[in-house]
Amino acid sequence: MQIALTQEGCEGEMINGPFWVMGGIPIFRSDHVPFLPRNRVTLCNCGRSSIMPLCDGTHRSHAEAQIKKRKRGQA
Ligand code: FES
Repeated sequence: MQIALTQEGCEGEMINGPFWVMGGIPIFRSDHVPFLPRNRVTLCNCGRSSIMPLCDGTHRSHAEAQIKKRKRGQA
Protein backbone atom coordinates (compact mmCIF):
# COMPACT_ATOMS: atom_id res chain seq x y z
CA MET A 1 0.00 0.00 0.00
CA GLN A 2 1.25 3.47 -0.84
CA ILE A 3 -0.37 6.91 -0.61
CA ALA A 4 1.26 10.04 -2.06
CA LEU A 5 0.26 13.64 -2.60
CA THR A 6 1.10 14.52 -6.19
CA GLN A 7 2.40 17.83 -7.45
CA GLU A 8 2.48 19.04 -11.00
CA GLY A 9 3.71 22.02 -12.98
CA CYS A 10 1.11 24.58 -13.95
CA GLU A 11 1.72 28.03 -15.47
CA GLY A 12 5.35 27.87 -14.28
CA GLU A 13 4.42 26.97 -10.69
CA MET A 14 4.00 23.73 -8.75
CA ILE A 15 0.46 22.94 -7.64
CA ASN A 16 -0.98 20.19 -5.48
CA GLY A 17 -2.70 17.44 -7.43
CA PRO A 18 -4.68 14.42 -6.32
CA PHE A 19 -3.66 11.72 -3.87
CA TRP A 20 -2.28 8.63 -5.58
CA VAL A 21 -3.45 5.54 -3.74
CA MET A 22 -1.75 2.32 -4.76
CA GLY A 23 -2.21 -1.25 -3.59
CA GLY A 24 -5.84 -2.19 -4.14
CA ILE A 25 -7.24 -0.28 -1.15
CA PRO A 26 -11.05 -0.47 -1.00
CA ILE A 27 -12.63 2.90 -1.95
CA PHE A 28 -16.28 3.73 -1.23
CA ARG A 29 -18.61 6.49 -2.35
CA SER A 30 -20.24 8.60 0.35
CA ASP A 31 -23.35 6.39 0.06
CA HIS A 32 -21.16 3.35 0.91
CA VAL A 33 -21.24 1.85 -2.59
CA PRO A 34 -17.78 0.38 -3.32
CA PHE A 35 -15.74 1.19 -6.40
CA LEU A 36 -14.23 -1.70 -8.30
CA PRO A 37 -10.86 -2.47 -6.67
CA ARG A 38 -7.92 -1.07 -8.64
CA ASN A 39 -4.22 -1.13 -8.03
CA ARG A 40 -4.00 2.65 -8.52
CA VAL A 41 -6.59 5.39 -8.05
CA THR A 42 -6.34 9.17 -7.79
CA LEU A 43 -8.45 10.74 -5.05
CA CYS A 44 -9.50 14.38 -5.23
CA ASN A 45 -7.56 16.67 -2.93
CA CYS A 46 -9.10 19.98 -4.02
CA GLY A 47 -12.79 19.36 -3.36
CA ARG A 48 -13.86 20.39 -6.89
CA SER A 49 -14.15 17.07 -8.70
CA SER A 50 -17.51 16.19 -10.24
CA ILE A 51 -16.82 12.48 -9.71
CA MET A 52 -15.93 12.48 -6.01
CA PRO A 53 -14.00 10.90 -4.42
CA LEU A 54 -12.00 10.47 -7.63
CA CYS A 55 -10.00 13.24 -9.32
CA ASP A 56 -11.45 14.41 -12.65
CA GLY A 57 -8.66 16.93 -13.40
CA THR A 58 -10.64 19.99 -12.34
CA HIS A 59 -7.89 20.94 -9.89
CA ARG A 60 -5.68 21.87 -12.83
CA SER A 61 -8.10 24.23 -14.59
CA HIS A 62 -8.95 25.87 -11.27
CA ALA A 63 -5.26 26.35 -10.42
CA GLU A 64 -4.55 27.75 -13.91
CA ALA A 65 -7.36 30.28 -13.51
CA GLN A 66 -6.15 31.29 -10.02
CA ILE A 67 -2.54 31.70 -11.16
CA LYS A 68 -3.55 33.75 -14.22
CA LYS A 69 -5.79 35.92 -12.04
CA ARG A 70 -2.98 36.46 -9.53
CA LYS A 71 -0.53 37.34 -12.30
CA ARG A 72 -2.98 39.95 -13.59
CA GLY A 73 -3.16 41.34 -10.05
CA GLN A 74 -6.78 40.41 -9.48
CA ALA A 75 -6.34 37.97 -6.60
S1 FES B 1 -7.56 16.94 -7.05
FE1 FES B 1 -8.10 16.68 -9.11
S2 FES B 1 -10.12 17.36 -9.23
FE2 FES B 1 -9.62 17.61 -7.15
